[in-house]
Amino acid sequence: MKSKSKEKIKQAVRESYGKVARAGGVTIGTNPAASCCNPSETSTETARGESCGCVLPGVSAKQMSALMGYSREDIISVIEGANTGLGCGNPVALASLQPGETVVDLGSGGGFDCFLAAKKVGQTGKVIGMDMTPDMVGKARENAEKMGMSNVEFRLGEIENLPVADNSADIIMSNCVINLSTDKLSVYREAFRVLKPGGRLAISDILATTTLPEEVQQDLALVAACVGGAATIEDTEKLLKEAGFQDIQIKPNDESRELIRQWNPAKSENAADYVVSAYIEAVKPS
Ligand SMILES: C[S@@+](CC[C@H](N)C(=O)[O-])C[C@H]1O[C@@H](n2cnc3c(N)ncnc32)[C@H](O)[C@@H]1O
Repeated sequence: MKSKSKEKIKQAVRESYGKVARAGGVTIGTNPAASCCNPSETSTETARGESCGCVLPGVSAKQMSALMGYSREDIISVIEGANTGLGCGNPVALASLQPGETVVDLGSGGGFDCFLAAKKVGQTGKVIGMDMTPDMVGKARENAEKMGMSNVEFRLGEIENLPVADNSADIIMSNCVINLSTDKLSVYREAFRVLKPGGRLAISDILATTTLPEEVQQDLALVAACVGGAATIEDTEKLLKEAGFQDIQIKPNDESRELIRQWNPAKSENAADYVVSAYIEAVKPS
């Protein structure tokens, strides 16, 4: 991919998620194409008049989060608007966080995973949410303030070039974001740099089960919808190895196919045939 088109893709992604942030989350109105990972089709009304509904017509972000593996307790522990329903799994559960740990969340959106992580690491720990979309960072900061959470901070920046010190994090988590990056090797290299020796990755993301057709990869709506930029499972493993990670585990969730089928614009209804949500774990050698 030429660098000009990479910049164009990044701009389209930023614009899409800026719209979501300004709308207060992805909501489902009369437009069934609106979805978590289809932010270009946001609406401000839900079928039920709820704010921050997501993904399936008539299904709220809270209901979707339950399907993604979040407990009821987690879902009701954050304020309205913090959970924009933009994830594709539950990396917080995967991370097995301990009190005192430092966590970096790549592409933190409205801050939902950061707030859950902050509770787990406690006052002796710290969570840094990173996002390249100014409106998302603004929204997450507002949510943190409303929730009185002092061990979470949100930084504006790109996950390919993290404004975070070397060897400073115990865990890097991410939820449905790395597929959106046009330079995934830089993302994993940066994660490796920022992790302490022995630090771990806990990622939920959309991966391709086969090489995506060129027209899907070049379709900006499909890229922003978390489909067009998905790397294959094999390439993801190679990139993680190249960045220096060991103990790499990639576990696709076949049950996510139905969810993905519902996410996307009509023209991508076959997307579920070639992408899947997966959990990715890896360790920086001690
Ligand atoms: C699908 S949303 C996921 C948000 C959040 N992780 C969640 O689960 O709700 C993707 C987020 O990643 C951000 N993002 C996409 N590409 C990025 C990049 N290259 N660097 C930093 N943030 C990025 C977007 O601005 C958006 O907030």
